[in-house]
Amino acid sequence: MKPGKLTLPELAAMKSRGEKIVMVTAYDAPGARLAEEAGIDILLVGDTAGMVVLGHEGTVPVTMDEMLFLTRTVARTAERPLVVGDMPFGSYHVSDEQAVSNAIRFVKEAGADVVKLEGAGPSLSRVRAIVSAGIGVMGHVGLTPQSETILGGFKTQGRTATKARRLLADALSLEAAGCFAVVLEAVPEPVAARITEALTVPTIGIGAGSACDGQVLVYHDLLGLTEGRAPRFVKRYASLADEIRSALKTYADEVRTGVYPAEEHTYSMPDEELEVFSRSAEGVEHAHRDG
Ligand code: KIV
Repeated sequence: MKPGKLTLPELAAMKSRGEKIVMVTAYDAPGARLAEEAGIDILLVGDTAGMVVLGHEGTVPVTMDEMLFLTRTVARTAERPLVVGDMPFGSYHVSDEQAVSNAIRFVKEAGADVVKLEGAGPSLSRVRAIVSAGIGVMGHVGLTPQSETILGGFKTQGRTATKARRLLADALSLEAAGCFAVVLEAVPEPVAARITEALTVPTIGIGAGSACDGQVLVYHDLLGLTEGRAPRFVKRYASLADEIRSALKTYADEVRTGVYPAEEHTYSMPDEELEVFSRSAEGVEHAHRDG
């Protein structure tokens, strides 16, 4: 563990003190550096990478190798924030053994501090197995994008009393299985508040209201790198897509019009060296032409 790293007991203490936990996704070294400099507590190398980095429409196609590559870039950079490697679809669904060996890859090969996986039910024995192997697990219930098809799309979960009760039971089971925190995604505020009160471990909300012990947003969403319609819970704190597009357009214009590079962007050489070079250049050119 890197010195100064935020530990799981410190995270639990933040919940006890009522101190909000701030988590954001990160997928590369510059993102991790900027998030750490901004004082973010947890960096989730989310499988949302599938959509915001890798060009897929969902998270299902993301592979272990892609997640390990992305996680490495974040883990190498982050000092204090806890780095969570998000286990992709298919990496923990087959058996407890498969889940443990892939969780170990996240920690050993990619430098993740802990892992996250989605769901309760069959995921509970996966959580128990990974925790028994000495690796911390963050749970995730509510809208679990890897089960998008079964859930009928990206929809709010737990809107009926029966479904809300199920969510509460699932979150409690994840805590009992050993999760150190649980993400609540797209869950009505009163349900998330009740779960947060019932759990001794922190809840991290995304579209789950302000009562959660912490919040998470996708980096590209909060910075305005993704555009168009966004889920209700997304707040854009910047419009970086506009800024980037405008900077790239200015660059292209300047290259085409010869404004860039200007003198201050170019290297010179001593006059006497230039003179010798100019004289000898002709000889080199001749030799090449004559074969
Ligand atoms: O993959 C991800 O980024 C996530 C967050 C949205 C919680 O799971």
